[in-house]
Amino acid sequence: MAAEKQYPVPPETAEHALLTRAEYDRMYRQSLDDPDTFWSEQAEQFITWFRKWDRVSNNDLGKGQIRWFEGARLNVSYNCLDRHLETHGDRNAIIWEGDEPGNTRHITYRELHEEVCRLANVLKDRGVSRGDRVSIYMPMIPEAVVAMLACTRIGAVHSIVFGGFSPHALRDRIEDADCRTVITADQGLRSGKPVPLKENVEKAIDGLDTVHTVVTVRHTGNEVSWNPDRDIWYQESLAEASPVCEPEEMDAEDPLFILYTSGSTGKPKGVLHTTGGYLLQASMTFKYVFDYHDGEVYWCTADVGWVTGHSYIVYGPLSNAATSLVFEGVPTYPDAGRFWQVIDDHNVNIFYTAPTAIRSLMGQGEELVKKYSRKSLRILGTVGEPINPEAWEWYYRVVGDQRCRIVDTWWQTETGAIMISALPGAIDLKPGSATLPFFGVEPQLVDNEGNILEGATDGNLCIARAWPSMMRTIYGDHERFMNTYLTTYAGKYFTGDGARRDEDGYYWITGRVDDVLNVSGHRMGTAEIESALVLHDAVAEAAVVGYPHDLKGQGIYCYVTLVKGVEPNDGLHKELTDLVRKEIGPIAKPDVIQWAPGLPKTRSGKIMRRILRKVATNELDSLGDTSTLADPTVVDELITNRANQ
Ligand code: WT7
Repeated sequence: MAAEKQYPVPPETAEHALLTRAEYDRMYRQSLDDPDTFWSEQAEQFITWFRKWDRVSNNDLGKGQIRWFEGARLNVSYNCLDRHLETHGDRNAIIWEGDEPGNTRHITYRELHEEVCRLANVLKDRGVSRGDRVSIYMPMIPEAVVAMLACTRIGAVHSIVFGGFSPHALRDRIEDADCRTVITADQGLRSGKPVPLKENVEKAIDGLDTVHTVVTVRHTGNEVSWNPDRDIWYQESLAEASPVCEPEEMDAEDPLFILYTSGSTGKPKGVLHTTGGYLLQASMTFKYVFDYHDGEVYWCTADVGWVTGHSYIVYGPLSNAATSLVFEGVPTYPDAGRFWQVIDDHNVNIFYTAPTAIRSLMGQGEELVKKYSRKSLRILGTVGEPINPEAWEWYYRVVGDQRCRIVDTWWQTETGAIMISALPGAIDLKPGSATLPFFGVEPQLVDNEGNILEGATDGNLCIARAWPSMMRTIYGDHERFMNTYLTTYAGKYFTGDGARRDEDGYYWITGRVDDVLNVSGHRMGTAEIESALVLHDAVAEAAVVGYPHDLKGQGIYCYVTLVKGVEPNDGLHKELTDLVRKEIGPIAKPDVIQWAPGLPKTRSGKIMRRILRKVATNELDSLGDTSTLADPTVVDELITNRANQ
């Protein structure tokens, strides 16, 4: 193989960085050889505890038991707010940039603390207490951060649902976790267009009498329907509430939040994270991966509806007393220079975004980037999907002026925090590789039989031991947790990703090896899209696969078999597209719908997705063995139909 391009750490970067290569090597060794000493030292350094632990770790992956810092007590909002007040009370905790350029707000740590205490008191007043689940369905406004922290202050468990999800998806999530309180806004705004959040909440909880409180932030000021027994305005109730609220002392293993994510089968899973280990690893990775220096301005463009927003807009930055920029808009509104304008306006030092955004801006040319100085930038991060070397090089050369280090961070909703990433002053870069594991993370590549593969090789990516921010269970379904992650390769956590390890021990994530799609960095189960399609009366059967897409990374390719007697037509095509949007949300909109008189099935009735993927990518001469199909002629039909699309 041709030698990959490398970008060694420049000596002046190493000199000013928090960690050098020698320090990384030493700490990484210790984190694996003497983990309890390592993690207890880090826990002392990063977190303020009300009570220290009796035991650092107590893990048994075979049993699905993961426990860190047992016996210890802490409060997340205390760690993100109270403890900074004396030294950094007047520092901006949040800089907010709205959907319209120039619409900004600055919120200091002191102000954020007060607002969080007020909302915490409002929630208590409505009967919310320790352990109760609260659903948050909000736009990217500071009040979303307030809502999260107010939950943690009183020990309530938040379950954020991305504001782009449909009422149907919201209802499923509210019901699954039995959330009785919902926090929302009248509307969201994205590229000038309103998103009817309160209206969606109404639809979602219609007939769901368990929901006793809906708190609504007045954001755009439009009219919304109102049920006085259930609904309260955020602004009015906060104005009346006390600004003093003692933080609840939580156990390290008490639940902190639930976040739903898609798997290869069935309904989305409620990934459950707990308090102590999660906060420690979110905090520590934020500091070391982004090489955060006191007083810097940091911007992560994710939404709080995804795990990236949880760990790297809120908990990681705020536990480090950083200034976190919260952005309501989109990268291309009013034009594709928006990111760089915001960076210049607020002197952003550290910028964290997704490959899909980089690819779409790359297509708009360099002028819109060069128009802005970007001179405050120091570190650039990427997350969500593999970054192709062309996009990496553009990010490095054009956005970063060959001056900024790039950190390609691999992790998952389930891992809670970054697992594989470069550290700016320590690790040489190779475009397209997430590079080396973070402290305490022991990646392993295994073959399909579970044999451990050594050296430079390809394989299924597993993690051989528990780490502090690991998910603890699937809410309400521990057996599904075991079956999804811990039994495929006994005694290890299976990520669902494939990866290559090169001769330097660098990891190159190759993508999912299961039926999970990654569309513009959004994770989606093919099964969810199929379930939406078959809701239509005209559809007998549907099978969905991913195919390579220039901008989105993966596109959604749907094969649809209609019931006998129904003829395909454009109207039906649109109805199906709308149905998926309505059931799941706009992010799941099909890219291709191909009518399929039959689907390739084995004699036992199992759909052979391998063949569907080949047809979708037009790799027709490598279809593989089709002799085990119940009806091999189905494949010829698929190929002919594809050509006639
Ligand atoms: C899946 C997890 C973790 C925050 C965002 C997504 C893919 C994530 C990378 C990366 C290659 C990546 C994986 C993973 N992924 N980061 N840097 N390089 N692939 O969280 O929705 O839980 O998705 O995203 O396939 O399994 P998520």
